[in-house]
Amino acid sequence: MAYTDTVRAETPLLEITGLSKSYGRHRVLTDLDLTLPPGIHALLGPNGSGKTTLVNVLSTLIPYDAGEVRVLGLDPRRDRKTLQGLVSLTGQYAAVDEKLSGTENMLMMGRLFGLSRRAAAQRADGLLERFDLTGAAGDRVATYSGGMRRKLDIAAGLIAQPQLIFLDEPTTGLDTRSRQALWDEITALADSGASIFLTTQYLEEADALAERIVVLHDGHIVADGTAAQLKARIGGAAIQLHDDAGHILEEIPTRGSAIDVARHLDAVARARPDVDVTVRRPTLDEVFLELTGEQAGTADQQDQGREGVAA
Ligand SMILES: Nc1ncnc2c1ncn2[C@@H]1O[C@H](COP(=O)(O)OP(=O)(O)OP(=O)(O)O)[C@@H](O)[C@H]1O
Ligand SMILES: [Mg+2]
Repeated sequence: MAYTDTVRAETPLLEITGLSKSYGRHRVLTDLDLTLPPGIHALLGPNGSGKTTLVNVLSTLIPYDAGEVRVLGLDPRRDRKTLQGLVSLTGQYAAVDEKLSGTENMLMMGRLFGLSRRAAAQRADGLLERFDLTGAAGDRVATYSGGMRRKLDIAAGLIAQPQLIFLDEPTTGLDTRSRQALWDEITALADSGASIFLTTQYLEEADALAERIVVLHDGHIVADGTAAQLKARIGGAAIQLHDDAGHILEEIPTRGSAIDVARHLDAVARARPDVDVTVRRPTLDEVFLELTGEQAGTADQQDQGREGVAA
């Protein structure tokens, strides 16, 4: 596991070519190509698009059928054991032991990753504190709320300070405060040198956190870029005309260049000199709709469960 910082900086986080995966005759991932540098990246897609399947393949949990996969430069098939010591996966559904306390769960995970009892205990205290679980640390997990379990699960996945952290829908089911705390934690982890690959159905989340956003639809990568690049794909800024009450009267698409925006604004100014205008960038929601023909969720819908997400 002699992965020096130099090696890390030069090695792509993920290198995937022609990756396919089927369950029986059902093809779930089709011919995926993807290269990502170290950093925070988001895999965005609706229910059933293949997010969990991809994350499970990359974290060595399940096998794949075809293609080449490198994670931190390692082959999940050949270098499975080494890779398992460098990455952690927090799955979509909390995998904590109900019969144990929060602290005991953390210690168990620490031991699993080969930490000494003392190192595990120290790290467990710090993480429980950061996730606001210190007060409940001695209680059995059976008495925890869903959100508390989720946070404990994520904290446990971080105990060994992995180089690459997979988080499968980490904020689904968390309240606004916990979601923000987790976003802060993810950013702090990245600042300390870890890479994060998270799945989400929420554009807002990908937009807030990720350097690169990979959009998965029906087992295909339909887009891959920065939030700004994805937004640029559906054209430039739009000019909105408002009435006095702020209602949108008209929206005029532009190509986004200064000259094109100016040309349209000029036409508006001549026709309706007193109308209020704003110039706005397309939202990621619009990008998603354009790319997949489906509406993605927004983080606000999380509190209402998944009903808001068309699959
Ligand atoms: N173990 C399995 N056996 C058979 N089919 C599976 C299995 N796991 C997933 N699938 C199928 O693969 C497809 C992709 O599932 P996956 O769980 O990867 O999607 P997802 O994007 O994570 O969805 P969600 O947002 O609901 O978590 C779905 O059609 C699902 O039914
Ligand atoms: Mg999933």
